[in-house]
Amino acid sequence: MVTKIKLDMTYEDRLNTALDYTPAECAAAEPDYVRCYPVDALRQREYARLDETGQVYLDYTGGSLYATSQIETHMQQLINGVYGNPHSINPTSMASTQRVDQARAAVFDYFSADPNEYVVIFTANASGALKLIGESYPFEKNGQYLLTFDNHNSVNGIREYATYHGAPVTYAPITLPDLRIDSATLIQHLKSAKPDGNNLFAYPAQSNFSGVQHSLEWIDIAHDHGWDVLLDCAAFVPTNRLNLSRWKPDFVPLSFYKLFGYPTGLGALIARRDKLHKLRRPWFAGGTVEIVSTLTPAFFRAHGEAAFEDGTVNYLDIPAVEIGLRHIETIGIDAIHDRVTALTRYLLDEMTHMTHHNGAPLVMIYGPTTTDDRGGTIAFNLLDPDGQMFDVRLVETLANQARISLRTGCFCNPGAGENAFHLTVDDVQACSAAAAPVTYERYVAALTRRTGMIVTGAIRVSLGIASNFADVYHFVRFLRVFVDLPSPGLLA
Ligand SMILES: Cc1ncc(COP(=O)(O)O)c(C=O)c1O
Repeated sequence: MVTKIKLDMTYEDRLNTALDYTPAECAAAEPDYVRCYPVDALRQREYARLDETGQVYLDYTGGSLYATSQIETHMQQLINGVYGNPHSINPTSMASTQRVDQARAAVFDYFSADPNEYVVIFTANASGALKLIGESYPFEKNGQYLLTFDNHNSVNGIREYATYHGAPVTYAPITLPDLRIDSATLIQHLKSAKPDGNNLFAYPAQSNFSGVQHSLEWIDIAHDHGWDVLLDCAAFVPTNRLNLSRWKPDFVPLSFYKLFGYPTGLGALIARRDKLHKLRRPWFAGGTVEIVSTLTPAFFRAHGEAAFEDGTVNYLDIPAVEIGLRHIETIGIDAIHDRVTALTRYLLDEMTHMTHHNGAPLVMIYGPTTTDDRGGTIAFNLLDPDGQMFDVRLVETLANQARISLRTGCFCNPGAGENAFHLTVDDVQACSAAAAPVTYERYVAALTRRTGMIVTGAIRVSLGIASNFADVYHFVRFLRVFVDLPSPGLLA
């Protein structure tokens, strides 16, 4: 969504006042629990460009940031080596194969996954991994696809494959106000697995909308009831340990840039070997077959991960995955987790206590307001003293002026958004009809007319590997712009 909004002087003045603070004030506001000197030193060493360019980056769930040393190490590797197309036995080809094998081994290592139990399939991103499952999972009438309302669109999109093959699709509810899974209802759904069919259950380990962490215990429970489990870890693994020697989901999609920023265009599907036989790919390509005949329709698929990696793998970037994982290991994912949790706690405390002078709350948070079972992603809206929402496009425009990178909309997670905004089936049907041919602007206008709320989406801030106290302090100061200000309503 790109909307140009002209700001009048009121906003400019308020922005200047809100952001008029000294480093000493920021330092004085720093509660002890967010101090973490090794990580602060890392920020200065590896992510100096943030402060040099004055950027306040609060979109780690969108994409993490790369460390300077990751780029330097990778560039040196490329400058000093000669790498040819892999899967041949010439020296430059073997050099590439070796680097790709090393990267795959690093992924197994990082997630404590046993190579006898799992395969690591390199994909373009998490969505690429999810599409692989969608197109090859044996959906059928005598099977089903169960997924939580809280899911990214790339998981929702698998329902199109399920429906095409006649498999019923069921959404498991999440409950307000915390947007957590409704356990009793999910258990009922899980009990409905078809004994002779293929049943796939998909949920995110961490919501990219609300930051809620849904229990990993659902993996075993679903297995016990006869389900294959797709655990979307794209938003979870950047700040949490995923131990695949303890938890045994069948399919784990992820994107590497969300973990360590570089390279983009690479993800993985980590899949259980004993479930691979279920996946029937609708085509074959170079690299995915042992032998193909053109004289007959015969072809023989490659084995393991090779059957799922179409064409030439991204052999120049894949080695950077190993470099990125080593970088995270050097800092320690637990240190990153603890630091992000502490900063999130500060942010939630501040946001939940900000009020207008009439006592009305400034911030409405969607999801948990404590750090129990949640990550560093916070979705919210700003309210005026009468409880009217601010159009998120206004908030985003002002944030841009304050050099804050945040995100607005529904973050490709419409289920969490529809629940957060209390929308009903009737609302969605009526507004899609009223907005035809549907565009974002027409749909939002129809929803706003119908519900009386300014439903332009939520605002999301998210913390990650290089976040520090100064980032969250700057953001809290920024929120002061809106104290006692009336909402101008839906912007044109
Ligand atoms: C939970 C979740 N799943 C899947 C995806 C899709 O990731 P990508 O866009 O890298 O394919 C995202 C991206 O934000 C996500 O947050």
